[in-house]
Amino acid sequence: MRDSERAWREALYGPEGFFTRGSVPADHFRTAPLIGPELAEALLVLLDRVDFALGRPARVDFVDVGAGGGELSAAVRELAAGSLGDRLHVTAVDVGPARELPGVAWERSLPGAVQGLLVGHEWLDAIPCPVVSWPCADPWLERWWPLRPGWRAEIGAPRDAAWADAVSRVRGAALAIDYGHVLADRAAGRHAEGTFAAYRGGRRVEPVFDGSCDLTAHVALDACAVAAGGSWVLVSQRDALAALGLSGSVGGSGMAWLESLARSGRVAELRDPAGLGAFGWLLHGVGVAVTDLLPPLPPWQP
Ligand SMILES: C[S@@+](CC[C@H](N)C(=O)[O-])C[C@H]1O[C@@H](n2cnc3c(N)ncnc32)[C@H](O)[C@@H]1O
Repeated sequence: MRDSERAWREALYGPEGFFTRGSVPADHFRTAPLIGPELAEALLVLLDRVDFALGRPARVDFVDVGAGGGELSAAVRELAAGSLGDRLHVTAVDVGPARELPGVAWERSLPGAVQGLLVGHEWLDAIPCPVVSWPCADPWLERWWPLRPGWRAEIGAPRDAAWADAVSRVRGAALAIDYGHVLADRAAGRHAEGTFAAYRGGRRVEPVFDGSCDLTAHVALDACAVAAGGSWVLVSQRDALAALGLSGSVGGSGMAWLESLARSGRVAELRDPAGLGAFGWLLHGVGVAVTDLLPPLPPWQP
């Protein structure tokens, strides 16, 4: 392991690490599960499609890997209704301290087998990887981020391996939602400075490796897709949410109108092309055709 990856890993997951000590996104930044229940609603539509494609088995899993404060798991558990709700097992997986959430199992590592939908929401960007600069001889860089003089980069191999391992446990679908980039952008030098960054208290700060801040870097989702293999699509969150029917229409009267207005604002935030809407959705179908889960959509252009 290179020194930069080791230092990053220690700073997040060592004994005094940022996540080991129990930091959650709610303390430092805003992620989609913190906005409201709308992401969970959309994921339940996707899970229903997975469940149908699997023939509505007796047990269906929703696994939230890198669950943080568990907000997404809790919302999925609360909103799941009917037959799916009765058969649903929700598991939050995180290396940080366990949380008590009604109806949600909390684990430190991934289950051996998942039948249903596994979601990694802003999980892969929290997996440390080597931070390097030109010149650097590395097979991952040669294929996925060919460096030129002066460029910096992150070697995404640890994310590829983590994602391939997660997908290998699934029958149904696996979805990574994250900010990131694709080869065409990287090769064109759009991220010539690299994307390694630190955040504390909602603000970008100078990276320090003492566990006081979150350390992150954009995810090469195209490399993760190829590493996990099988059938997959890589689309924008904006398009995926629309394809799952998430609407922010305003209507009704009185309190209903006010609530629809608030919801419309939350949906707009999730779909904002300059913000969360530009996140990538990497969706793999495993034993299920990915075309049964989402209609054809334009490829992700972060
Ligand atoms: C950026 S947070 C995202 C939390 C949450 N999904 C959200 O979007 O609000 C990343 C989380 O991934 C967890 N994590 C990192 N590597 C992990 C691993 N190998 N297994 C389980 N959790 C992990 C961290 O502890 C942290 O809570």
